Amino acid sequence: MQVFKTHKKLNEALKGSGISLGMVPTMGALHEGHLALIRQALKENDRVVVSIFVNPTQFNDAEDLKNYPRNLDDDLAQLEPLGAALYIYTPKPQDLYAEGVVAQPQHLMGLDLVMEGAFRQHHFDGVATVVEKLLRSVNPDRAYFGEKDFQQLQIIRCLVEQQKIPVQIIGCPIVRAADGLALSSRNLLLNPEQKSAAPFLYQILQDVQHQWPPKKLSDLTKWVDQQFKEQALFSLDYFVIAEEENLQSAQSLEKGKKYRSFIAAKLGGIRLIDNMGLPII
Ligand code: PAF
Repeated sequence: MQVFKTHKKLNEALKGSGISLGMVPTMGALHEGHLALIRQALKENDRVVVSIFVNPTQFNDAEDLKNYPRNLDDDLAQLEPLGAALYIYTPKPQDLYAEGVVAQPQHLMGLDLVMEGAFRQHHFDGVATVVEKLLRSVNPDRAYFGEKDFQQLQIIRCLVEQQKIPVQIIGCPIVRAADGLALSSRNLLLNPEQKSAAPFLYQILQDVQHQWPPKKLSDLTKWVDQQFKEQALFSLDYFVIAEEENLQSAQSLEKGKKYRSFIAAKLGGIRLIDNMGLPII
């Protein structure tokens, strides 16, 4: 494993033809979910770049950016055993943002305006800006993203198509703890009481799956609202059943279409998101 602070040095080390290159962009605070992406990338490519960069332009709240967990030494210790084919890229903001640390406004077919986009203004402008910069700086053949951030994954697919970035985007399944909690760097911020309450999100998504397809979509939404009213520790930001392709909230169900349930809730000051695919009807 080698560590690089600039994309220039990284690219010098990667020079050579006939080598397939995978990339796993991360913001660090690595967990088993990231490691699953990296292992898959290592299986499918000769070399893999893991970027570790807490991207300031995707945070709409300065406190959230300040509190985001960071532990580079621990991240590198987790990556070291994965082998010599790993190239770690840990840029400073100026290595990616030569013209100033600002997000470019994006046109993402409305995918960025719903759910997380509605609650975190300009969040996806920042995500799309940095992902484009990372992909163009590293030039991988394949880039791997988790379905935990399913909306982000669809937005990156849209970005790559619109900007004609020559890379294959690969979505990988959510990795969960034994209690069902979707792994996330933000879970490090939960106190013990919150940590034991957090799998409630997964239970709700599972219950929704068991009730699927509902006679009336609005009854399902009302049922979820009621479950949250009975939970003192949580405040629900949204529960949405949306079409996977366009992420628009479903008003009625059509046969053959893929739907997914999405949930976001605050547990104390910590915001958790999760989602689950629903059987095709
Ligand atoms: O999912 C993340 O960790 C980030 O949003 C990403 C894709 C690395 C961009 O900063």
